[in-house]
Amino acid sequence: MSKALILNGSPRGKKSSSASLAEYMKILFEAEGIESEIILILTQLNKGERIKEMVQKIKSADFVVLFAPLYDDCQPSIVIKTMEIIAEEKMNLSNKTFIPIINCGLPEPEQISEGVTPIYNQFAITVGFKWGGSLAIGGGEGIQGRFGKQLDEIGAFAKNAIEALNDIVQSLVSEIQYPNVEIILVPKIFYKWPLVNLMTSINTKSWKKMAEKKGEKVDAQPYLEE
Ligand SMILES: Cc1cc2nc3c(=O)[nH]c(=O)nc-3n(C[C@H](O)[C@H](O)[C@H](O)COP(=O)(O)O)c2cc1C
Repeated sequence: MSKALILNGSPRGKKSSSASLAEYMKILFEAEGIESEIILILTQLNKGERIKEMVQKIKSADFVVLFAPLYDDCQPSIVIKTMEIIAEEKMNLSNKTFIPIINCGLPEPEQISEGVTPIYNQFAITVGFKWGGSLAIGGGEGIQGRFGKQLDEIGAFAKNAIEALNDIVQSLVSEIQYPNVEIILVPKIFYKWPLVNLMTSINTKSWKKMAEKKGEKVDAQPYLEE
């Protein structure tokens, strides 16, 4: 029986969009008779013993699926640490397929495809994983995994993610290469006038409020000529 190891690389741990996506993928794997397990990178890196345990689980998996958020056009540090651990172990990974499934807060998935996907790809090549394709999810913040909802309980918002996860599992089962795919969860109507203006204005107000709370002068214009 094939085994899938699902790594949740979100620093939010169980209360993350990555967790919600990972839980759903586990259900899909099990429906195909693929034994699967989710581990939280955050807690796994706590102790030397747990790191060894994670390495062991990678060694015995056929598919290694990484769920993680985009942080400042990069990987969260716990994911970078995990990539370093895998590289240092110098394991034989040639029979294991690696797939990164990355979500970001803003709607544009190209932030992921043009930023971290090539890094994950280079990582896979360097350590010897088989590249199984990738999924870039724009607007992942809206999945609201942190409120404990399963993907199929969120409604139409999660439709594209559900379809893509299904496609990935089917590609793995039928040994067909999955491509590098981008999806957007935010409905297209939000990109059109007048909603796009309304959303931009709401977002700007909310960013300003957050910055003000942290003591920033949000309307400062330090480079404005007198
Ligand atoms: C430190 C930090 C940096 C972030 N950088 C980006 C970014 O560059 N682009 C973006 O669209 N979202 C960014 N986000 C938003 C997260 O990618 C987004 O909230 C994501 O849905 C979190 O996924 P998770 O719940 O699986 O951790 C950032 C969030 C944090 C905390």
